[in-house]
Amino acid sequence: MQQTDWWKKSVVYQVYPRSFYDSDGDGVGDIAGITQKLDYLKELGVDVVWLSPVYDSPNDDNGYDIRDYYSIMKEFGTMEDFDALLAAAHERGLKIIMDLVVNHTSDEHEWFVQSKSGKDNPYRDFYYWRDGKDGKEPNNWGSVFSGPAWKYDEATGQYYLHIFSKKQPDLNWENPEFRKEVYKMMKFWLDKGIDGFRMDVINFISKVNGLPNGELKEGALYGDGSPYFRNGPRIHEFLQEMNKEVLSKYDIMTVGEMPGARVHHAKVYTDPNNNELDMVFTFEHMGLDNGPGGKWDLKPLNLIDLKENLKKWQTGLHGTGWNSLYWNNHDQPRIVSRFGDDGEYRVESAKMLATCLHMLQGTPYIYQGEEIGMTNVRFDSIEQYNDVETLNMYKEKRDQGVPHEKIMESIYAKGRDNARTPMQWNDGANGGFTTGTPWIDVNPNYTQINAEQALADRNSIFYHYKHLNSLRKKHDVITTGDFNLLYRDHPALFAYDRRAGNEKLTVLCNFGRDEVVLEDEKLISEAASAEAVVQNYKDILLDKERLVLRPYEAVVFSQK
Ligand code: NOJ
Repeated sequence: MQQTDWWKKSVVYQVYPRSFYDSDGDGVGDIAGITQKLDYLKELGVDVVWLSPVYDSPNDDNGYDIRDYYSIMKEFGTMEDFDALLAAAHERGLKIIMDLVVNHTSDEHEWFVQSKSGKDNPYRDFYYWRDGKDGKEPNNWGSVFSGPAWKYDEATGQYYLHIFSKKQPDLNWENPEFRKEVYKMMKFWLDKGIDGFRMDVINFISKVNGLPNGELKEGALYGDGSPYFRNGPRIHEFLQEMNKEVLSKYDIMTVGEMPGARVHHAKVYTDPNNNELDMVFTFEHMGLDNGPGGKWDLKPLNLIDLKENLKKWQTGLHGTGWNSLYWNNHDQPRIVSRFGDDGEYRVESAKMLATCLHMLQGTPYIYQGEEIGMTNVRFDSIEQYNDVETLNMYKEKRDQGVPHEKIMESIYAKGRDNARTPMQWNDGANGGFTTGTPWIDVNPNYTQINAEQALADRNSIFYHYKHLNSLRKKHDVITTGDFNLLYRDHPALFAYDRRAGNEKLTVLCNFGRDEVVLEDEKLISEAASAEAVVQNYKDILLDKERLVLRPYEAVVFSQK
């Protein structure tokens, strides 16, 4: 099959189906609901829709715990609904990519049920079963979702590994029979005509032999096993095999979610000569506001760190691999609340953040609600939260004696449910998401922030995103140009230019509430003769001597 790189000029929109649109009033978003909203996505001008998992699942981790890869979660609909969605998307020229979760399954998946049933069962080796050590777990690894990464099974007297929740046992990629099953399943979906995969924690699938103990950091309850399960010894071999057996046979896009992947890893994963993946999701820029204690340990962002980081990825992959560009997804808090201002300058800062990201080299991802500037939520009670990571962390910290208020501040800033409150469609009951009782409360600000309002206002964040999407199609420099960071040490200004052939784009973004005054002669004279192709204020404060950027102002100048 001829492989083309159509994804380089594409913009991807991520749908979290549970929270997108409920077509049947049961309080849970569904596939028919997505189909009904395709015209909205078309209006936004995106090219690809990534669906978070829609497979049958007991929902311990909202679908990232799959019970059956070949059927659709009942609450979301049926396989017919899925086929109808795919056809309706393709009719509109939209592509669909699916989530591929193959580092683990649900403990209710038939393979695990078999595997657990006895040491001699042929499926035993599809997972990681080990004997205990000195009456304890086989090693000291902690789970990403708190507690140990092992669970004891009374019946067979062994422990199984679960890097995520205890209902998400890790699959054993060392087993070739298992790998064949994965490839068969991938083909099932690709033969239906889907356009690619987003691969969940795909750099975790190769583990270091012997599963050694991890370093026990100060204050930590468990050892850090990540050096032994991220970017492991056989990862490239597994991905190349998957590429040869499956991916190379289709003209699709692939993006690997890769916590802990650095630029040098990503270069290998995404270099087309290696036949692995098209692009990866880095986590580095999303960790810059973590304190030494990790994600829940809050630290303000230092813009210089962000600039340096994105520069490293931009220059590191230019000419070899490919970047994916994102601020948001279903695991991250809302960017306008995180790096912008979700109060007075919500609209300006949301547009500025979009501009800063979308003018970089790579494939941009928009997460549902980002295009209308949805914000973080502050629920009063822990009972209103649903996310397994948040709830387990809350319990563990309470058991350690951490005050409720302190934990809630971390949840308000970083909890995954910030991204999972229902999409705000209008100012009616439940933000127009459902006529029933939503599975998680709607952010009360839906009366002001909603899609209907955004569509009615030509100056909305929605139309700003739409404009950015259309610019990508007009200016090749966005796709092909190089990246040069400007004003490197400026604490509030993120500025860069992109060059290809005769065209140059200069991107200026003020990340703060104070005016930024630029008096650089060359910049001012270039700006005076350039065309402003993006702006988030009505006018531009430029005269012969100065360019002034107001709070959260963004401007992009194009010169040809
Ligand atoms: C990453 C997914 O994005 C997240 O939502 C999930 O909890 C873990 N992987 C485990 O599948």
